[in-house]
Amino acid sequence: MWDDLKSKAAGLGDRRIEALFADPDRAAAYSLSALGMLFDFSKTQIDAPIYDALLEVADQAGVAAKRDAMFAGQKINETEGRAVLHTALRNLEARPVLVDGKDVMPEVLETLSRMESLAQIVRDSDVTDVVNIGIGGSDLGPAMGVLALAPFHDGPRCHFVSNVDGADIADTLAKCDPATTIFIVASKTFTTIETMTNAQTAKDWLAAQGVSDAGKFIALSSNVAKAGEFGIPAERVFGFEDWVGGRYSMWGPIGLSLMIAIGPEDFRAFLKGGEAMDRHFVTAPMAENMPVALALVGLWHNQVLGHATRAVLPYDNRLARLPAYLQQLEMESNGKGVSMDGADLPYHSGPVVWGEPGTNGQHAFYQLIHQGTRVVPCEFLVAARGHEPDLKHHHDLLVANCLAQSEALMRGRTLDEARAKVADKFEGAELERQARHRVFPGNRPSTTLIYDQLDPQTLGKIIALYEHRVFVEGVILGINSYDQWGVELGKELATALGPLVTGEAPVQGKDGSTAQLLRFVHTHQAR
Ligand code: F6P
Repeated sequence: MWDDLKSKAAGLGDRRIEALFADPDRAAAYSLSALGMLFDFSKTQIDAPIYDALLEVADQAGVAAKRDAMFAGQKINETEGRAVLHTALRNLEARPVLVDGKDVMPEVLETLSRMESLAQIVRDSDVTDVVNIGIGGSDLGPAMGVLALAPFHDGPRCHFVSNVDGADIADTLAKCDPATTIFIVASKTFTTIETMTNAQTAKDWLAAQGVSDAGKFIALSSNVAKAGEFGIPAERVFGFEDWVGGRYSMWGPIGLSLMIAIGPEDFRAFLKGGEAMDRHFVTAPMAENMPVALALVGLWHNQVLGHATRAVLPYDNRLARLPAYLQQLEMESNGKGVSMDGADLPYHSGPVVWGEPGTNGQHAFYQLIHQGTRVVPCEFLVAARGHEPDLKHHHDLLVANCLAQSEALMRGRTLDEARAKVADKFEGAELERQARHRVFPGNRPSTTLIYDQLDPQTLGKIIALYEHRVFVEGVILGINSYDQWGVELGKELATALGPLVTGEAPVQGKDGSTAQLLRFVHTHQAR
């Protein structure tokens, strides 16, 4: 099947995406509407034979059966022997979900209700600042969500400390009053060095200010025992099971800071959005299934056409952290070199995901997207309505820019058009030279996800859409999207390097570069 797709790609020749719109039905045929959102992938080279071939790949990989196995609690994370059930965290209808024969829903809902009680207590108290200490999946989700849902934020201020760089916590604590600040230590394992170091620094800060840490800490973790050792009493620990992956965890306890910010009711709306996308993913036919289509477009661009990166470009300033969130979700999930059985992958794994909100990116890196020699498939996101009715003219400009970019990427500008642009200024060879700099090749693919307004439900739908996209791509690539062994080596070496940095151990057995860098540190620290 991949060969078929590759030969279809080779057969495209110089076909222009724009020319495909000679078919007046193209926009509707290559768009999907679901849950109040429209996903338009018509500005790509995908046509009926290509879409059919992509669907065939999905069929042969058994996407539907594996999807059902995931929802049914089977241990599809095979290298760790775990189920993958972040979907249970938003299963508000409490349909039974069995892991090893036991329904996990009573515990999930009990934890949700405990979170809601605590969130309400915090919101009703004199707490002014909540500091979430966590990293990776224990940071990116709530940090992204709190910014995304700023118009719904009516609880205390939320801060996110993730980096082991002391600058992160120092700059955050400088903004906080120890008397009215609480800390959430968010760590699935409760062993992550960055989080443990920052949590201890927060404790020391309170002590240095003469403030007791009693009642100041909350733990979110699947390692309840370790949280206890840190001194957080069981009633302030919110646990979750190993079937929730870190990068999929914002729907449960890891989302507590978001819940405190927007309130339990709006947090439930966020869960409802995710649940609605789950239902769509499970019930919609493959050809009309939004996560499947998003995944197939991704595979077409990366594995078939060989475009190594994908830009996520939200024309929604409050989604500024979405690209960072998706970097972990997509790259930690699908950045693998072997298939489930341990064999080398015969094609590339997931692409490099990057991006920034529009219109800012337009004034930074879009130059390369439009005229650089590599094609960067772009994924635009935009709301039909903003949250600032008095600033509708801003929103109209934002939308116009978003649509203009996808149009410009597709159409480009020919040499003749470029010549006509500058014919009044130059002539002869100089006209040719100047015109060539103004040519845009065009024919560059993009997709657009458009929704009504960024509210909690919509955010839930968008995040679940991308989660399921990762799943579908992973299944088709035959990889395990739910482990992350690739982060281990760096952690091990950092632990071993610690004493060499402090000088407690001699710089021995290190390569020349590492030894030289250590000497530089020692020389400068001795000053
Ligand atoms: O190092 C990667 C990772 O394990 C991520 O998968 C995870 O989200 C992050 O570290 C934080 O882990 P924890 O929540 O256990 O502190």
